Amino acid sequence: MPKLSIRDLDLKGKRVFMRVDFNVPLDAEGGVADDTRIRASLPTIQLALREGARLILASHLGRPKGKPDPKLSLAPVAGRLSQLLGQPVAFVKDSIGPEAEAAAAALGDGQALLLENLRFHAEEEKNDPQFARRLAALAEVYVNDAFGTAHRAHASTEGIAHLLSPAAAGLLMEKELHYLGQAVENPPRPYVVIVGGAKVSDKIEFLQNLMRFADAVLIGGAMAYTFLKARGVNVGLSKFEADKLDLARDLLSFSERRSIRLCLPSDHVVAEKIDPSAAAEVVSGTAIPANRLGVDIGPATRADYAAQIQQARMIVWNGPMGVFEIPQFAAGTLAVAKAVADSSAISIVGGGDSVAAVHQAGLADKISHVSTGGGASLEFLSGMKLPGVEALTDK
Ligand code: 3PG
Repeated sequence: MPKLSIRDLDLKGKRVFMRVDFNVPLDAEGGVADDTRIRASLPTIQLALREGARLILASHLGRPKGKPDPKLSLAPVAGRLSQLLGQPVAFVKDSIGPEAEAAAAALGDGQALLLENLRFHAEEEKNDPQFARRLAALAEVYVNDAFGTAHRAHASTEGIAHLLSPAAAGLLMEKELHYLGQAVENPPRPYVVIVGGAKVSDKIEFLQNLMRFADAVLIGGAMAYTFLKARGVNVGLSKFEADKLDLARDLLSFSERRSIRLCLPSDHVVAEKIDPSAAAEVVSGTAIPANRLGVDIGPATRADYAAQIQQARMIVWNGPMGVFEIPQFAAGTLAVAKAVADSSAISIVGGGDSVAAVHQAGLADKISHVSTGGGASLEFLSGMKLPGVEALTDK
């Protein structure tokens, strides 16, 4: 890890501005519906408090469009964090200004506060230098543990890192970079990449980059129909991207030239429509009848993909194999989740839907690393530099 770590810092008595990603789902009553992301940063927060830091935590929540929105307040998150830590976490109703300054100045060693949603100020997403200066004025040291937001060049993720020194990575940030880094630097072989989801266009750079390293790429989800169509296979009523057929052909021929196994479904689960009331039918063979659309990979494909996953020593999975929110179309995604969980390979799962699938299947603790970053992990694995990481102090 070429960047400074929180473990390298002396935090005793220091005011530490820690950017976390507490962008968590809320329930109908405004409570925290899933605290995975809060728990994921607990080790970093606990380390800082144990070392005697005076901790100023900051995050965004949702996309409030640059103005206060009571439905997107971080107040419930402060409550949950305080329960998890077993100590009070003061909540400050604005991320800048006199109240934040007074609360930060009043912190004692080992105490923490959480600032209100950073995105209540439009300047946050604009990476406004003046806003970054006002955030920086609260603290002496910067720690970024918000891997999930590291692909955004915002005032609290990028601008501030140039104003406070040192600017170090938190433990979650380090862990994410450690695992995801292995996927693109000398990965153990055989290396199997599993890609699903709706659109080829969302995963072009991801596919192009990982095909430089992978031995096999297993494709599922609606993007498979674009690849099949590009091969001249009938896909019936299945959704495919007509303007990405040439790109799919390029990726197919690239994989042939590089002797990478790019695997497409050999059978399918199909339905009349995507609807919870629609019946699931299996069609053997690659072609889909004219009056049906593909909704999941079929049983032969599941078995083939599971066998390839079993051989792997490194696995990256991003995107579901079908419309897994509808139970009768979920078998392919759940079969892949089980195969990845059963594997002894280093396994990395990223992307909201595939992460939801491993949680739904109760298999998350059998995966080496379930990334907390959807967009951030996709961009990292696509070979892009993450501004929130680049801005940190070099070791
Ligand atoms: C996420 O949930 O992917 C991160 O918190 C970033 O959120 P954003 O896409 O609204 O920037």
